[in-house]
Amino acid sequence: MTASQDTAPSRPFPHRHLLGIEGLTPDEIGLLLDQAEASVAQNRQVDKKRSDLRGLTQINLFFEESTRTRTSFELAGKRLGADVINMSVATSSIKKGETLIDTAMTLNAMNPDLLVVRHPHSGAVELLSQKVACAVINAGDGSHEHPTQALLDALTIRRRKGRLSGLLVAICGDILHSRVARSNIHLLNTMGARVRLVAPPTLLPASVERLGVEVHHDMRRGLADCDIVMMLRLQSERMHGAFVPSIREYFHFWGLDYDKLASARPDALIMHPGPMNRGVEIDSAVADDIDRSVIREQVEMGVAVRMACIEILTARLRHPERVS
Ligand code: NCD
Repeated sequence: MTASQDTAPSRPFPHRHLLGIEGLTPDEIGLLLDQAEASVAQNRQVDKKRSDLRGLTQINLFFEESTRTRTSFELAGKRLGADVINMSVATSSIKKGETLIDTAMTLNAMNPDLLVVRHPHSGAVELLSQKVACAVINAGDGSHEHPTQALLDALTIRRRKGRLSGLLVAICGDILHSRVARSNIHLLNTMGARVRLVAPPTLLPASVERLGVEVHHDMRRGLADCDIVMMLRLQSERMHGAFVPSIREYFHFWGLDYDKLASARPDALIMHPGPMNRGVEIDSAVADDIDRSVIREQVEMGVAVRMACIEILTARLRHPERVS
């Protein structure tokens, strides 16, 4: 294990939890991104492990299936030296009928320092955070927020384009059910980017104009002159009823292929939070285009961003003398 580097955040972060992007200031978002930047190089070394979080316990509590987000949080905690425990619904007493609050109280009694929580209901993570003594990170709650996804998207964009402010970002597809879209809209608006939502009316929230975005119902017009094209998965697990006529038709009108991409800027980047449905919202060749697609880089940045969030939220435990 590498000796502990002094990775204390450069400025204080005034929140105990990270429940969403809404309400964070540009300076707070900048702090999280700068802190993440410092871990990117470390994550590319052979020895990826630090000891800053030695003695601290992180519990990943996932009430919903997840592959990349859970793995990413697990790696992030371990690379910082924490003890990481994974709990998923399939193997826990939640299946036996325990309530969310009882689960929270039980885990709280084990004195964890950090809980990373994913839940299918919007607002459940915030409710849980009110019942525990430790810091809580929202790893996705219903269709509400997924703050670390928006932060890793922002880090990917900032590293490629050198800035966020002034960029034109198109978020396309199933916006109605997407916590990724909601967190990204807040982050990009806060950081001075322009956001366009491109989707059929059935896949947009009713109050969409209040989000401070432009709305388009046509891919070619929606993608015109964009710097970033962010595609979203059709979240069929959150759909009750038919939102699209058929997958074939959806791909024809809303799937990203080279033809539609031609209206974006020639240097536009293609993003997707994963998991991708090839041939539904994105053409396979476009997704794998090494000159345009940064989908794999997003996954890499995810670990660095989660390390930053963990470091910043536990800084008050590790450096109590610096907390005013
Ligand atoms: C997203 C999620 O779970 O909200 N995926 C992820 O975090 N990697 C998006 C999705 O499920 O489509």
